[in-house]
Amino acid sequence: MTPPTSADHGHPTTDSASGKFHDPKTIRIRPADFNDARDVATVRRLVQGFADVSNVTLSPSVKDTVAPFLGRRAAFVLLAEDLGSENDTKKPETVAMLIAQRILSSFEAGERINIHDLYVIPEAQGRGIGRRMLSVCADHARALGCSDLTLEVAGDNAAARSLYRTFGFDVPEGEVPEGSVLYGKCPLS
Ligand SMILES: CC(C)(COP(=O)(O)OP(=O)(O)OC[C@H]1O[C@@H](n2cnc3c(N)ncnc32)[C@H](O)[C@@H]1OP(=O)(O)O)[C@@H](O)C(=O)NCCC(=O)NCCS
Repeated sequence: MTPPTSADHGHPTTDSASGKFHDPKTIRIRPADFNDARDVATVRRLVQGFADVSNVTLSPSVKDTVAPFLGRRAAFVLLAEDLGSENDTKKPETVAMLIAQRILSSFEAGERINIHDLYVIPEAQGRGIGRRMLSVCADHARALGCSDLTLEVAGDNAAARSLYRTFGFDVPEGEVPEGSVLYGKCPLS
C-alpha cells in the first residue's frame, strides 16, 4: 500500500528519515506503566525528543530522573504505540506522549487536568494522533471526575493552537504578541 502523504491529512509533516510510515489504524493509546522499565525508557526518550524540538537542553541529571519523577507526580502519562511498526527490540514503536497533571479549581471545588506536554514524533505527525491523544486524555479526566482540561501553548505554535482550538479549547485565535504563551480551557461534559 502506498502510504498517504501529509497532503492526505491536509498538513505538511516532516519526512521520515527512516522511511517508516505510521498508519493511524494500528495506533493504540494506553497509560504508561512506570513499573515497566521499557515504559520508563520510552518516556525518557520522548521527553528528550520533545526537548529537542523545543530547543531545550536537558541536564544529565534530568535525563536520569525525569521518568521516575513523572511516575510519582503526573496524574497520568499516555503513550501511543504503533502496533504495526516495531523498534530495534521488536516492540511496537511509541510515536506520541501526553503528560497530564491534576490541578485544583477553587471555583468548582474540584479538580481539573492540566495537559503539561503533548508530543507526536515528526514521522507520525499530521495523521490525527495528537487529536486522539486529547480524546483519550479527556476520557481519563472524566473518569477522574475532573471538570475540564487546561493547557498552555506558545503563540507561535500554529499547529498546536489549531489542534487545541478545534478540539474545544478556548485558545485565542489570530495574531498575538511575539513570545506570548496562551492559556486554554476545555470544559468536559
Ligand atoms: C502539535 C502536535 C501535537 C499535533 O499533533 P498531530 O498528531 O500532528 O496533529 P493531528 O494530526 O492530530 O492534527 C489535528 C489538528 O491539528 C492541527 N494541525 C496539525 N498539524 C498542523 C499543521 N502543520 N499546521 C496547521 N495545523 C495543524 C489541525 O487543526 C489538525 O486538524 P485537521 O487535520 O482536522 O485540520 C504535533 O505537531 C507535535 O507534537 N508538535 C511538536 C510538539 C508540540 O508542539 N507540542 C505541543 C506543545 S503545546
